[in-house]
Amino acid sequence: MKVINIVGARPNFMKINPLVREMKRQQVDQLLVHTGQHYDQAMSESFFQELGIPEPDINLEVGSASHAVQTAEIMKRFEQVCLSEHPDMVLVVGDVNSTAACSLVATKLGIAVAHVEAGLRSRDRSMPEEINRLVTDVLADLLFTTSRDADANLLQEGIPAEKIHFVGNTMIDSLLLQLDRAKERHTHRRFQVEPGQYAVLTLHRPANVDEADQLEYIIGTLALVQEQLPIVFPVHPRTAANLKRFGLEEKLRNLPGVIMAEPLSYLDFMDLYHRSRLVLTDSGGIQEETTYLQIPCITLRENTERPITVTEGTNYLTGTNREQILNAFDEIMSKGGKQGRIPEYWDGKAAMRIVKILLEQKRRD
Ligand code: UD1
Repeated sequence: MKVINIVGARPNFMKINPLVREMKRQQVDQLLVHTGQHYDQAMSESFFQELGIPEPDINLEVGSASHAVQTAEIMKRFEQVCLSEHPDMVLVVGDVNSTAACSLVATKLGIAVAHVEAGLRSRDRSMPEEINRLVTDVLADLLFTTSRDADANLLQEGIPAEKIHFVGNTMIDSLLLQLDRAKERHTHRRFQVEPGQYAVLTLHRPANVDEADQLEYIIGTLALVQEQLPIVFPVHPRTAANLKRFGLEEKLRNLPGVIMAEPLSYLDFMDLYHRSRLVLTDSGGIQEETTYLQIPCITLRENTERPITVTEGTNYLTGTNREQILNAFDEIMSKGGKQGRIPEYWDGKAAMRIVKILLEQKRRD
């Protein structure tokens, strides 16, 4: 069996790594294709170096563009790869544009598609990732899920049960593989904060950072939080560009408790959040990483495709309403926040389960 594994953007790299390792161990014939959706040292290369992911066999070098142009470029270039490499299967992870684009190409060429992290739904179609999730799942032949609610979503959408496999979370596999190495980084020292006495902030969703009023309102809330707890803020390139464009960068820099930084590498960032008092984020994956490590998380979004982090984990879904954020913040500061438990199968063995199923499937064909 020949598998093409796809990566494109930052949140894909840690999800593919345990799978590439396990496929190697099981001697699966595999190629790694990087679409080039993310391309610079901080957003891409540093992840390959730290995770020890082999250099991509092929890089499509599509770069940044509008959704339509980026998706179309990935499709045009990836079709050529499929035509010359003749894979039996294309494996995609997560919900970025590369995930949906490569699934569509493979399906139209009659190549099976496996989707890792299938079935998550925010039910918010204004999120580009929700569209990518819907498109990918309707096309995929094998759907690997991280939680039982994702299975239920897929069944409700009419996906046959035999295609769905609850396997756990490869991002948590990756976290477990790297946590000890991450702990050696002592990233907090770089920002002159003490373990347990700072917050970590990430912010990059278009809904939060693409409009000046919304971004300014969020900064107003951060101004209140930083009076009580320093905030370390590695700034995503989308957000950095918008802060400049809207003339808000100075406002943020003038807050004494906000420490702005370049995007951090995987290990540096893991070390930073695992020692933090709490995390404020609009990311998807960080909701899961904090739930696993039982770090309180305040999610600055109106919805989440990862509800298990709220029902079982340490996540507070506050939206960006100031009062709600401050209520959650006060609860965490005064009482420590939710206790939380680690969700089922988030045990470091998801990649093993996935590759086992792929090999069984091949035997049946
Ligand atoms: C993408 C994903 C999002 C994911 C996020 C993580 C989609 C639809 N969105 O959003 O799901 O959470 O990645 O980062 O796939 N840029 C750089 N260097 C890079 C890449 C981008 O400077 O290596 C800059 C470019 O100016 C670009 C902007 O960041 O225009 C946004 O990048 P883009 O890939 O369009 O979207 P993200 O917001 O990163």
